[in-house]
Amino acid sequence: MDGNGRWAKRRLLPRIAGHRQGVESLRRCIRACAQRGVRALTVFAFSSENWNRPEDEVSGLMDLLAKALAREVAELQRGGIRLLFIGERRGLPARLRQGLAEAEAATAQGAGMVLNVCFNYGGRWDIAQAAARVAASGEPVTEIALDRAMALSHVPDPDLLIRTGGEQRISNFLLWQCAYSELFFSDRLWPDFDEAALDEALAAFVARERRFGKTSEQVARPSA
Ligand code: IPE
Ligand code: MG
Repeated sequence: MDGNGRWAKRRLLPRIAGHRQGVESLRRCIRACAQRGVRALTVFAFSSENWNRPEDEVSGLMDLLAKALAREVAELQRGGIRLLFIGERRGLPARLRQGLAEAEAATAQGAGMVLNVCFNYGGRWDIAQAAARVAASGEPVTEIALDRAMALSHVPDPDLLIRTGGEQRISNFLLWQCAYSELFFSDRLWPDFDEAALDEALAAFVARERRFGKTSEQVARPSA
């Protein structure tokens, strides 16, 4: 979800105003995805590297998450959405950690869409923590064992990965899981990413041929 800062700057507003608008955009996107039958939505809210931002922006983002939780959990419950936080909990303020655990518990029965919010997350962190867990278990280090130990093992690998804000890079998002994801880069800043922009990404996804290493003939006729 990239582009909040630039959205604010264009309006001569402080960066945190862009992040606040980013929360609104996320609400809209969650609703739109649920309506379109998306089973799992994973968003990148705060990266392992975002700690390097100015202190007031970091604390502003923590604050924004705590406030959004207090406001939105009931709505997620009503929508049958199961909320999970993915990332390193240690290092987050204790009160926020408790808020995350409470929000997860409150939505645990949600049988509709799964919403993974990656917070204090990095793709490399996930691979390393999975490797450490497999090593500690004494199990052989295989792709299957690592896959099971990854923080997102409860959902399939993403079919579609969307990055907003015009940048064409992965920036330490789902490094392990995006091996065969279709990538879609949107020039829209995240606060401007609306239903029409989502539908544009979904239409592009539907038009792609996914071969997973096979030939075009094989995927057209699965027996070939
Ligand atoms: C949001 O956008 C990403 C977060 C870390 C919350 P940015 O804050 O990176 O926005 P730009 O790239 O400065 O526009
Ligand atoms: Mg950015």
